Amino acid sequence: MSKSTRRIGIAMGDTLQRVGELIFETDGRRQTSLFRYALEWLDDRDSFPLAPNLPLSDTHFHSGSRSSPRSALPGPVADGAPDAWGRGLIRKARRRGLTELDYLLAVDDTTRQGALRYLDEAGQPLAQTYPPVPRLNELDDLRRLVGSADEGFELAPDLRDRLIGSAGSLGGARPKATVRDDRGALAIAKFTSAQDTMPVERMEAATLALARDTGLNAASAHVELKRSAHPVAVIQRFDRTASGRRTHYLSAQSFLGVEDGTDAYYTDIADMLRAHAADAKAEMEELYRRILFTILVSNNDDHLKNHGLLSVGGGRWSLAPAFDINPQPYRRRHLETGISEQSGNAASIEAALEAAPFFDISADSAASMLARMATTVRERWRHHGLAAGMTPAEIKLYEDAFDHEETSTAQRLAGAFDR
Ligand SMILES: Nc1ncnc2c1ncn2[C@@H]1O[C@H](COP(=O)(O)OP(=O)(O)O)[C@@H](O)[C@H]1O
Ligand SMILES: [Mg+2]
Repeated sequence: MSKSTRRIGIAMGDTLQRVGELIFETDGRRQTSLFRYALEWLDDRDSFPLAPNLPLSDTHFHSGSRSSPRSALPGPVADGAPDAWGRGLIRKARRRGLTELDYLLAVDDTTRQGALRYLDEAGQPLAQTYPPVPRLNELDDLRRLVGSADEGFELAPDLRDRLIGSAGSLGGARPKATVRDDRGALAIAKFTSAQDTMPVERMEAATLALARDTGLNAASAHVELKRSAHPVAVIQRFDRTASGRRTHYLSAQSFLGVEDGTDAYYTDIADMLRAHAADAKAEMEELYRRILFTILVSNNDDHLKNHGLLSVGGGRWSLAPAFDINPQPYRRRHLETGISEQSGNAASIEAALEAAPFFDISADSAASMLARMATTVRERWRHHGLAAGMTPAEIKLYEDAFDHEETSTAQRLAGAFDR
């Protein structure tokens, strides 16, 4: 990697309105960038800041630190760049020594996360060279292709490009691709991986359905190739509206304005919601109930990129539907995002109840929320597992994720409200 500077136009959504400019620099070792809003964006009455730490102003915002190249792009831009899975595909297809900007621009504009788009000198979105997004009826072919890549086989260049187009843009580490569902809307297909020893994708779809059953706002999902040994969880994209328009997305990491791997607490997210949410009370309650759910179903992958925010305009935000919630029967009871500084990372119902005031929730309300949620989880998880095609033996494998010390505590503490 030698010294280079690149200027990229940034545009918003379907109208490609100019938002700003990114100047990306690398000296071969360190990668940094400067972001500046376009005057056109600053002058628009309907414009909004891309993140709370990028207020609308005519200045340069610097990104990049010595510790990690991952911090070389502003948070909202980095949120649309591929992660472990997509990067793996891109690395195989392209030369070595790729920069953060190369990864960002390698993926398909159609499937790119959120509403930000990147323009070449001619004002054309980058990149538009990929074949159309596969449809659901091509899922079995796509599954085979993804499986080959997941197992490390070499693919012919045209197949590799097809895969980067549909599968490269999304974050996360599991094998996945964007597909068009029967109504033409974008959805994420999450595939069974060669390393899976549990029916993870059936369970993921079941858990999102269970979350909705408890009244949480969770992404809609169903299982495709349901009778096969390689079922696929198909999850509706929430960064597109029903009519297909793009919605600006931020990970909780970028919402907090912190770097990859920073320790943060749910109380920090609550504080940001208090300041920046359209309906702070409702959002803090939703977040609080997601903590209870996470503990009750033994999800322990609740890091800051597995929580997201959607822009509702005017610099206001709402929590994106919950996603990537995976019950883990065999892991220790630990949260990636701790509840509060006092409780640390313990996945503890007692700590969650103690923290209720930080979310503007009274002790009584917290106990009654817990009672209702614990009952629904206990009574309904098996039903959702069976509905997602799990066998009774597979359901049994997950029992420890739904029946454990914290669910007993929940039942005991919530006892008085459980009716
Ligand atoms: N339903 C969805 N709509 C839009 N974006 C999503 C949705 N679900 C996940 N994402 C985005 O895709 C990324 C990867 O998805 P995720 O389910 O977290 O996969 P993994 O299990 O590999 O971490 C998330 O971090 C989020 O940015
Ligand atoms: Mg994830």
